[in-house]
Order: sequence, then C-alpha cells, then structure tokens
Amino acid sequence: MALITWTAEEFGTNISVADEQHQNIFSLLNQLDDAVKSGDRSATGSILDELINVVVDHFKTEEDLMQQHGYPNFAAHKDAHDKLVATCADLQKKFHAGEAEVTPETTQFVKDWLVNHIPKIDFDYGPFLNDKGVN
Ligand SMILES: [Fe+2]
Ligand SMILES: [Fe+2]
Repeated sequence: MALITWTAEEFGTNISVADEQHQNIFSLLNQLDDAVKSGDRSATGSILDELINVVVDHFKTEEDLMQQHGYPNFAAHKDAHDKLVATCADLQKKFHAGEAEVTPETTQFVKDWLVNHIPKIDFDYGPFLNDKGVN
C-alpha cells in the first residue's frame, strides 16, 4: 500500500513545477518505503540516493522562484529545507558506511515532514507567485 498519495486538494500549490516535483518525490518515497519493507538493502540505497537528489533539486527550484520574485518568507522557508537536507545527508552517509539503516520510521518521518511542510509552508508561496505571474 502506498505510504503517501498526492491529491490536488491536499497538496496542490497552484505552481505547476512544484506540483510535478512533489508528485515525483511522493512516488520515490513510496518506492523507498516498499524497498525498506521488503528488506532489499541494495534497492533501498539506490532509491534513497535518487530521492535525496530529487528533493535537493526541488528545494533549489522553490528557492530560486522565491528569490527571483522577492518572496518575503524566503529565509525561514530555506531554513526548513536546509534542516531536512542535513538530516537526510547524515543518514545517507551512515547508511552507505553500514552504520545505519533506513527503517519504516525513516519513511514515516519523511512523510510527516511533507504532510506538514507542503500545506503549511509551500502553500504560502502559491498566491504570492501567482500574483507575480507564475502558475
Ligand atoms: Fe515543496
Ligand atoms: Fe518547500
């Protein structure tokens, strides 16, 4: 069963590039959760690496858009991104060194982060960027 499902009602930001990237992140997180629960460490490692790359790219897309258009809450939003990336990069390093595992608690943590971040933090740039002509 999918860990997380994207719907426009729950997660739509009204910024198409963000919505597409969020859907890709959800898909990779579901794949990671499946790999973790099936005990496939090799698949877990490669999906973890891909998910982190895609998340880093996504954060850069949002940050570039916010900066280009003078979004007022940029610093706090970037800080939230940086904290998640630091946590994930630490786990990634330890996983590949054989010092830590990705567990169902890990994928649930990322799900909870997204379920909080997108509707509370990302939603705020939607109307602001729409006003600047970004859709
Ligand atoms: Fe986002
Ligand atoms: Fe964000």
